[in-house]
Formats: sequence, C-alpha cells, structure tokens
Amino acid sequence: MQNRFRAPGRVNLIGEHTDYNDGFVLPAAIHLETIATFTPAPAMNWTSSSNPPEAWQRYVSGVEKQLRRRAVPIPPLAIHFESTLPLGAGLSSSAALEVSAALAFIAAAGFELPPMEIARLCQQAEIETVGLGCGIMDQFISLHGRAGQAMLLDCRSLAFEAVAIPEDIALVIADTGVKHALASSEYNTRRAECAEAAQYLGVQSLRDATDPRGNPRARHIITENSRVLAFVEALRTNDRRSLGQLMAASHLSLKNDYQVSCLELDMMVEYAGLCPGLIGARMTGGGFGGSTINLVEADQAQAFAERLRDLYPAATIYITKAANGAGPQSP
Ligand code: GLA
Repeated sequence: MQNRFRAPGRVNLIGEHTDYNDGFVLPAAIHLETIATFTPAPAMNWTSSSNPPEAWQRYVSGVEKQLRRRAVPIPPLAIHFESTLPLGAGLSSSAALEVSAALAFIAAAGFELPPMEIARLCQQAEIETVGLGCGIMDQFISLHGRAGQAMLLDCRSLAFEAVAIPEDIALVIADTGVKHALASSEYNTRRAECAEAAQYLGVQSLRDATDPRGNPRARHIITENSRVLAFVEALRTNDRRSLGQLMAASHLSLKNDYQVSCLELDMMVEYAGLCPGLIGARMTGGGFGGSTINLVEADQAQAFAERLRDLYPAATIYITKAANGAGPQSP
C-alpha cells in the first residue's frame, strides 16, 4: 500500500483576501512541501522531524475529526511528518500539513474522496480547530497545483482553470523573516468587516458589489477581483508591463485600503524595484509579515536574489517554479 504522501506549500500571484469574499484567486503550488509517512500502529501517534507549527498536532487531529465526521474508517496510525516549508513565511505550511495528513488518513482507511472535498474538509479543520476563519485558497492549491501553471479559482462556484506561466518567468519568493503577532486576529477582523460591508452595500458577498460607496475594504475586494482577471489575460498575452502594473496596484490596495501590509513587506517590494530582471512585486498571503512574490526574468533570477539580499540581509529568498499538487510520493 502507498504509505507516503506529499503536499506542497503555495504562493499566490494575485487575488488576496478575495477567497472568503466569493472572489477570484490565482495561486501556484511551489517546490517546498510536507511529506507524511504512515505505518499501522497499536494507537495513534504522530511525530515530526522538522520544525512544525506550534501545537501542530491540533491541525492533524482537526483533519482526523473532519474525516471521521464523514465516516472515513481511519485505523490507528504512526505518522511521521517532515517538511521543507518555512513557518510563518506566508507559504501555507499549515495547509500542506493538513493536506498531507488527510491523504495519509484516507489511504490508510482504503477510502477515496474527491480533491475538492479534501480541500474543504482541511479548510474546515483549520477554521474549527485553529480558529482562523480562512478561505479555501491554500488547501485548494496544495491539492490542485500543476507544474508550470497557476490556477485561476472562482471561490464561489469552485470552478478552476490552469493558466500557464511563461517558461522564462521565475517565481522569486522573499521571506521578510517577520510574522507580526496580530496576524490571525486581524485576519478574522477583516473577514468580519467584509461581511459588514456586504450587508451595508446590500449584496450577498463583496464579490457582487460594484460600487464600494467609499468603503475601503470593499474597494480592495472589488478592484482586486478585476485585477485577477486582467492578470490572467496579461499572462496569456505575455504582457509583462501589465503584469507589473497589476502587482503594484494590488500591493498598494492591500497596504492602503485593506491595511494588511507592514513596513517590512513595503520595504521588500520597494527594494525589488532596484533589482535586475523584475517584472512585478507584491506582498503575498494574509499579510502582517511573511513574504513577497516577485515575477522575475528567469535568466536574471540569481542576480535579482543576490541584489535583494544585499538590500535586505535578513531576507530568505527562494527561486521557484509552479509545482504539482499533492499526491503519493515514491520512497
Ligand atoms: C491566508 C488564508 C487564505 C487567504 C489568504 C489571503 O493564506 O489561509 O484563505 O485568505 O490568507 O489571500
């Protein structure tokens, strides 16, 4: 029986904080990942050889609980987790942990579930056990990623479509090394503010709004959704100038209207503009620390990374390409 499963982290190219507003996102899976290896055991026991998130076993038991609720007959297992994903970098180490655990539990039970169902139950586990009112983006892309492609997801219908990233564009992730403590409480606050704004505007969710009537949170969601669609078009036509402009506008909107950026992220984006080969830069993920995503001419990615490290010595930089989503891993 296959007893080893991998689940990748992700980087979001554009479409931030739109997932829980029924909007559009454009993430890609990355080469950094978590691997779960299981063997039958007399009782459940989970170990980790990497540096797991605080109280990481809660994520695993949350997933187990969701599966049991769906009548998946999970036997007792020893599961060992190892990961190359950094923590607190905004690259979804928690979604990768949840998804790798889910695949291990499901396989051990001899069960099958559609990938979108697995994404939803992992999201549910995070909301219920960890208390972060997250959307579905991270768990979705960890399962549905495809090498060389970003995925356009409509978070209302859950319809998705692959969008090729030109071969000569590298995804360069720059981790600021900071994670501000207010990240998850501010995240939940934004979610509540969006629900209030939707009510005020008389729409089911901000996805349906067209005029923000001066509400900056609504303005971010409305403009960000249209930027995602324009960005997809620019990828398809290889219009690099538009890609850069859309990323810059997204960052400013997250900074000024949505207020989830921070000094370190703003600096990293500004420094990127001084480095060779940049196409576009913005913060990625929930914000309040974590990473920026930079689209960079692939043949200049190394020089770009070196220059950025000179300017921001505490940065950890990953040069990556879009990777495949979760699945069995050969030993
Ligand atoms: C976190 C959440 C996602 C999404 C992003 C912001 O990564 O887990 O659901 O809301 O923030 O785009």
